[in-house]
Amino acid sequence: MSKDEQEERSRRVVYPVPSRLTNGDPAPYIGPDIEAYREAYEESVGEGSDEWWAEKARETLFWDRPFKTVRNGSFADGDIAWFLEGGLNATYNCVDRWAFSDPDRLAIIYEPDDPTSSPSPLTYTYAQLLHAVCSLANVLTSSKFRVTKGDTVAIYLPMTPHLLIAALACARIGAVHSIIFAGFSAEAVRERVRDCGSRVVITSDEGVRGGKVVATKRIVDEALGGCGGEDEEGVGVEACLVVRRTGGEVGWVEGRDWWWDEEVKKVPGYCPPTIMSSEDPLFILYTSGSTGKPKGVVHTTGGYLLCAALTLKYVFDVRPGDRFACMADVGWITGHTYILYGPLLNGIATLVFESTPVHPTPARYWETVARHGVTQIYCAPTAVRLLRRLGAKHVAPHDRSSLRVLGSVGEAINPEAWTWYYEEVGRGECAVVDTWWQTETGSIVITPFPGATPMKPGCATVPFFGHEPVILDAESGKELTGNSVEGVLALKTPWPSIARTIWQDHERYLETYMRPYPGLFYTGDGAARDEDGYIWIRGRIDDVINVSGHRLSTSEIESALNEHAGVAETAVIGTEDELTGQAVHAFVTLKPEFVFEPDNEDALVKELGLQVRKVIGPFAAPKQIYVVPDLPKTRSGKIMRRVARKIVAGEGDRLGDLSTMAEPEVLEAIKEKVAQRL
Ligand code: PRX
Repeated sequence: MSKDEQEERSRRVVYPVPSRLTNGDPAPYIGPDIEAYREAYEESVGEGSDEWWAEKARETLFWDRPFKTVRNGSFADGDIAWFLEGGLNATYNCVDRWAFSDPDRLAIIYEPDDPTSSPSPLTYTYAQLLHAVCSLANVLTSSKFRVTKGDTVAIYLPMTPHLLIAALACARIGAVHSIIFAGFSAEAVRERVRDCGSRVVITSDEGVRGGKVVATKRIVDEALGGCGGEDEEGVGVEACLVVRRTGGEVGWVEGRDWWWDEEVKKVPGYCPPTIMSSEDPLFILYTSGSTGKPKGVVHTTGGYLLCAALTLKYVFDVRPGDRFACMADVGWITGHTYILYGPLLNGIATLVFESTPVHPTPARYWETVARHGVTQIYCAPTAVRLLRRLGAKHVAPHDRSSLRVLGSVGEAINPEAWTWYYEEVGRGECAVVDTWWQTETGSIVITPFPGATPMKPGCATVPFFGHEPVILDAESGKELTGNSVEGVLALKTPWPSIARTIWQDHERYLETYMRPYPGLFYTGDGAARDEDGYIWIRGRIDDVINVSGHRLSTSEIESALNEHAGVAETAVIGTEDELTGQAVHAFVTLKPEFVFEPDNEDALVKELGLQVRKVIGPFAAPKQIYVVPDLPKTRSGKIMRRVARKIVAGEGDRLGDLSTMAEPEVLEAIKEKVAQRL
């Protein structure tokens, strides 16, 4: 069945709200039906919207200083601000509140890569977490690190509780954390550390994931010391704090490097929270855009925290005592909002998962659910597709009765994977929430509500409170009202967790999000509204591609390949992939002077793959690289990616209009090369 046919069919399949949720005790926050959602939603938009947000902000967060102004600014001016006079501290809201009222409550459950190992500690109560955060905060302000309010601190850590503690310690003292996903290469780390100007980096000796050791400290050393070649310069990092994860051998720079476990013993275990203005930056997180340079998306304190807390509460219907398992990495926005901030702001336990869905066996997720009594799981469709392929036999033996909500994020979930998730994992008793959002939105924007929204497989359904998504005609920018329409997705009203700027590049922020359709926030995604008013996300319509839920920019990969001495030109495309959603395919032409043995093409292709790993990281490596005599181009020299895409998709005989193509003869050579490699 084609993708379109699948979607057509699933548009008509509607799954009712599971009775497990509507009959739950207590009843769901929003339920028992779509009418209950509509009523609540209406209050959150339009005239009463400010009052709605203000009330939620007061009841959800603890403010050291109350706000008077709810919102200010506009998309057009790019000056959106929320809860302006308010003062608060993120960690007081995430940790102290619960540590004081209920110190033994579980805050963090650590599920280490090897499930039979027990690195200590495996759990943190809120009181223990407060102690750990405060101690580290005191280390950061000590004379070795001298971190003060407003400084940026780069964090390059694998998925252990230290990653959460490090981010919270920064927030405790008003430092801005910049977490760099621990799969990035030394060059990528260097670029990001340099861009955000961190003097301090927090890392670990090594990391472990899926049984493999990752040399985190070595990567940081390489990043900080310069990588040789033309640029021998370091990046101005003065101090590096190192977590002992494996005890493996590491290089050491005396006077710069310090062990975390030794330093925290030397400082007091309480540190008063620094009161921040609502609009002070909380963190920077790099993401890919449509140019080669990554964007440092900036989120501020009050608005971001409010949306993190509220979306977690309503989208997952969380209750006191819940154990929330988001399987993403804290190095991406999903982890920031739904491993770190969302769960802790709600005072529940968050699971820190260090492993992969298939390590040591494909039962790993479900063993984890059974072991800890996980109540909500949140993962990427790519994991669901992989586990589905490996078979329900890995799911069935494990007790999943604690689960109530199954979340999906990062890319569209195809109806088959959705149905497997719903039926095999959830036994038809759990709500599946297909949540659409972005690094820039900070929190979930379009989503079912578990106790209220009848579900359609593969459909993100309806807006979260306070959001007004609109579908536009891409060309005219005209809003397409009513049902059964398709176009580009934009958001009409500012919400508290919208990114405020791109670090050091506000112009790019305006250019990317605010100018394409003046007065609206442009998402870069295509979307449709079906006959029932449900929103379906169609995926990116810019040069961003999505591989296993990882957001990559084609031009970033092209720049990486272009750095290879032999490469003249490249065209990178994303194609549909059964397992990873999209896959990266790269077309490369070589410089005429580059001496290259045609018999040795495999070695060259391997080298080019390594080049991408070196510049970005292993997760960005192309699935296929084709060395071709020329790229398909228009007469004005524009690369025809559409043509390359069709050839890879096996539609080389249906290339459509080629009248603008400069040299149609190149097509045969390209087709031949693709046929050889696929
Ligand atoms: O294309 C959309 C896709 O992921 C993009 C955002 O990527 P990132 O900033 O890395 O954040 C990922 C986690 C929120 C979006 O522009 N995307 C995200 N969620 C979905 C999705 N596409 C379809 N359905 C989703 N539920």
